[in-house]
Amino acid sequence: MNLPPLTLKKNISTRLDGRVHVDSKWSAAGVTQQFLENAETYHARYTDNDHWKYLVGQAIDLAGVNRQAALRILDIGSGSGNTVFAATDLLPNAVVYANDISPQLLQILVGIQEHLPHLEGRIEAYCFDLHKDFFADDTFDLVIGGSILHHMFDPEAALKNAARWLRSGGKILLFEPLEIGGHIMAAIYLSLLAELEFDADPRLIAHFKAIGHDYEARFGVPRVKPWTSGLDDKWLFHPNYLREMASNIGLTFEQIAPISPDLAHIFSGSVRSTLNCAGLGDVPTPDKMWEVLAMFDAGISADLKKRLTSEGIIILAKP
Ligand SMILES: C[S@@+](CC[C@H](N)C(=O)[O-])C[C@H]1O[C@@H](n2cnc3c(N)ncnc32)[C@H](O)[C@@H]1O
Repeated sequence: MNLPPLTLKKNISTRLDGRVHVDSKWSAAGVTQQFLENAETYHARYTDNDHWKYLVGQAIDLAGVNRQAALRILDIGSGSGNTVFAATDLLPNAVVYANDISPQLLQILVGIQEHLPHLEGRIEAYCFDLHKDFFADDTFDLVIGGSILHHMFDPEAALKNAARWLRSGGKILLFEPLEIGGHIMAAIYLSLLAELEFDADPRLIAHFKAIGHDYEARFGVPRVKPWTSGLDDKWLFHPNYLREMASNIGLTFEQIAPISPDLAHIFSGSVRSTLNCAGLGDVPTPDKMWEVLAMFDAGISADLKKRLTSEGIIILAKP
């Protein structure tokens, strides 16, 4: 069973590809193969239902969302559904409209849904570019976006669209990488290189260098660099940029909270998680690496770590 089709803006039309509504003028602007041809690999590497259920649960409670309400939710940049399946679990009376620019990831999402009979009639997928004003204004009660805004060429334009489609009184829950914490992580990777470059497994060293470069490439939103358009992960967000963007759009900036439940091991946990995501979880790691990370974890107070978190839950509201 499908959800009732939504009203779209006058100049927009869609065609059905299986169960996914695809923008008739769709093009894969601003994304690389990892989300398109290589969607299955991306899905296998980054699907983590428990992690996302925890994060979405945190965000809906911070935002004061009533878990029993019959909400119409828009999930932006759903990919293969991490936040979508978290939302349908945590908000049992909600329906979720999943958006992504990748038809392949949305096909994986609806494929999973088809094997979960309790989710019949609760998820509908729309493939389009979030930079496009697509849905009628005031369509949704809540917007959720897991790691999506930092993929946009123009985060403000994309967020402005999501805000238009949200009804007054609704909230926007985002999970995004943060710039101040990015500087600390870059310093940590440089420190690991200083300690280990000539002793550790070359795969670890190449990984530390790559992550360091990745951070450097993304500092300074909205300053577009010559390489920005070629990156999937384009930005890290400074709190002032987020505040100013919210205010430009007419949204209220409510708060940023750290994503990690474990502030005690926030830096070692972050490095461990990037190793796992890069498929390097089994590469032998020297004790010295964990000693360096433990120094950062022990040397920075819990209060300061909240400000230095490299990823945050961001809560915005539409007055
Ligand atoms: C890091 S993934 C996050 C996926 C999912 N939210 C999750 O947490 O697993 C970013 C997603 O943004 C999508 N994306 C990138 N640019 C987009 C755009 N302009 N409009 C809509 N989706 C986009 C990608 O295809 C990808 O699925």
